[in-house]
Amino acid sequence: MKLPSRPVIETGSLVLRLVEKGDLPALFAVNGDEEVVRYSPRESWKTAADGEAWFAKIMEYRSTGATLQFVITLRDGGHPIGTMALFHFDESVRSAEVGYVLARSLWGKGLMKEALAATVAFAFDVLGLKRLEAELDPRNAASAKVLERVGFTHEGHRRRNYCSKGEITDTGLYGMLREDPRPVIPSRRL
Ligand SMILES: CC(C)(COP(=O)(O)OP(=O)(O)OC[C@H]1O[C@@H](n2cnc3c(N)ncnc32)[C@H](O)[C@@H]1OP(=O)(O)O)[C@@H](O)C(=O)NCCC(=O)NCCS
Repeated sequence: MKLPSRPVIETGSLVLRLVEKGDLPALFAVNGDEEVVRYSPRESWKTAADGEAWFAKIMEYRSTGATLQFVITLRDGGHPIGTMALFHFDESVRSAEVGYVLARSLWGKGLMKEALAATVAFAFDVLGLKRLEAELDPRNAASAKVLERVGFTHEGHRRRNYCSKGEITDTGLYGMLREDPRPVIPSRRL
């Protein structure tokens, strides 16, 4: 799929742009937190080398057009506070998967709803996708709520189909179509 080379997604309080190497120290503070990766298949970053290895993979995926890896930054000051990815693009049905993380100190302020709603609009209205998908550990209630509030539908539940950090877990399946209603998510003043 032909992807834009320098996409930017803006909301009232956030700017999402492609991740750069200089973002790694700030992203270490996010991904080095065990609570942030608790329901993710990924391990927390223990050293700077873990972040660099992640970034090298992202650059490889970017070169093949496999992933749009955004960093979520605060509009005021530009500090990176999390990430948002569009990946698993499927040209045949014009779909992609979405994944996101946010610094723990900023949870519960409505920021991911705001970031995800804008990413949904970008995916459907700019990229011309027709379907978005997300998968999660069903114990991740905050993530499930974010998806539902932004307009995703819970489409299914796969039992004990995934091994994450040595633990066998279920998977919640979520999907959203271009024509599905898109609730208005107000921007938060931080
Ligand atoms: C999931 C995550 C992105 C949510 O970000 P956030 O900015 O805190 O979410 P928001 O504040 O935008 O919205 C959260 C919604 O979930 C609700 N919520 C928050 N924590 C919750 C919990 N533990 N149980 C149930 N609902 C919860 C909020 O009340 C809000 O719903 P509301 O609009 O009806 O009030 C954040 O917790 C995170 O980064 N977690 C770690 C990484 C992760 O799990 N990523 C997703 C992998 S699938």
